[in-house]
Amino acid sequence: MNKKHMLYIFVVLILILTNSSYAFPKPMGRRAKMVPMSKFVDIPPEERMSNTTGTFAVDNNFSAIGLLSFVKADGSTDYCTATVIRTDNGNMAITAAHCIWDIIAENWNTDFYFYPGYNNGSPGSIGAVRAHTFSIWSAFTNDEALYDYGFIKFYYQDGRKLQDDTGAFDCDVDVPPGEYQTTVFGYPYNSGEMDCPRDGEHLCEWQGNSFEFPNNLPNYQWHRGISIDVGYGSSGGPWIKDYDPNTNGGNIVGISHGWLPPPYPKEGTTSWAWLNDDFSSLLQNAENYNPPMNNF
Ligand SMILES: *[C@@H]1O[C@H](CO)[C@@H](O)[C@H](O)[C@H]1NC(C)=O
Ligand SMILES: *[C@@H]1O[C@H](CO)[C@@H](O)[C@H](O)[C@H]1NC(C)=O
Repeated sequence: MNKKHMLYIFVVLILILTNSSYAFPKPMGRRAKMVPMSKFVDIPPEERMSNTTGTFAVDNNFSAIGLLSFVKADGSTDYCTATVIRTDNGNMAITAAHCIWDIIAENWNTDFYFYPGYNNGSPGSIGAVRAHTFSIWSAFTNDEALYDYGFIKFYYQDGRKLQDDTGAFDCDVDVPPGEYQTTVFGYPYNSGEMDCPRDGEHLCEWQGNSFEFPNNLPNYQWHRGISIDVGYGSSGGPWIKDYDPNTNGGNIVGISHGWLPPPYPKEGTTSWAWLNDDFSSLLQNAENYNPPMNNF
């Protein structure tokens, strides 16, 4: 091999290395340990639908967003926001992983009730639906700043899909970088800055631009921010790009997490910026995760 060839190979190598670092701006370390964790809760058949009213809201697709109540390891009841997302299964919602897993007690929360369309202190026409499977990334259980989103699968009446009665939002599997208009919903309780009655009984809405963090912050591409603190109870609430209030359509691009540790600013709200890799595989895992047969 002559010197000219050597140089050529060297230049090509540099080009490949340089290009690849632009093509994959997210550090690979983020995907190092991709282990999904799922939990199944059996509810006796006669109780599965006992909190659902059966007054199914045909032609009403404005109740995909709802209040999620659950019990923590210390016995207290807590609240988050969850959203029905369009899936083949039809009975899936997205919320924050920290609403599903108690990071302090290092255990799953229990006794989940989802009230799709909850507002003004009353459940929507469907009442409460019960949840039976939960899926999150195990990396979240080691570091709550990572992968703070997860999926819940609900029991629903045989032959029906929850999403047909509530409506459902689509999700962008790769969250676009940059700044764009984002509409955020939640049920804040005595905290935060959303302009609405912050009593945990009202569905609150904020619209503004979500942004990418400046690149001097560590792993800045892993999260996105909004300028408003959405408050407790809004955790898990959807960040919707191109929300259309007339059709209640738009794509979910994030889930309210809260603050990140320093040097991130202790203000506003952040969301994990998922990639197709983590989002699609966790959702697939969640949809396919079925209770052990011996529980029936
Ligand atoms: C669910 O339904 C059962 C049986 O009707 C009732 O005892 C319970 O209070 C209900 N729970 C909620 C959270 O509505
Ligand atoms: C509601 O229906 C409209 C019209 O079919 C659709 O564009 C929109 O995405 C739906 N919204 C939800 C939340 O399902």
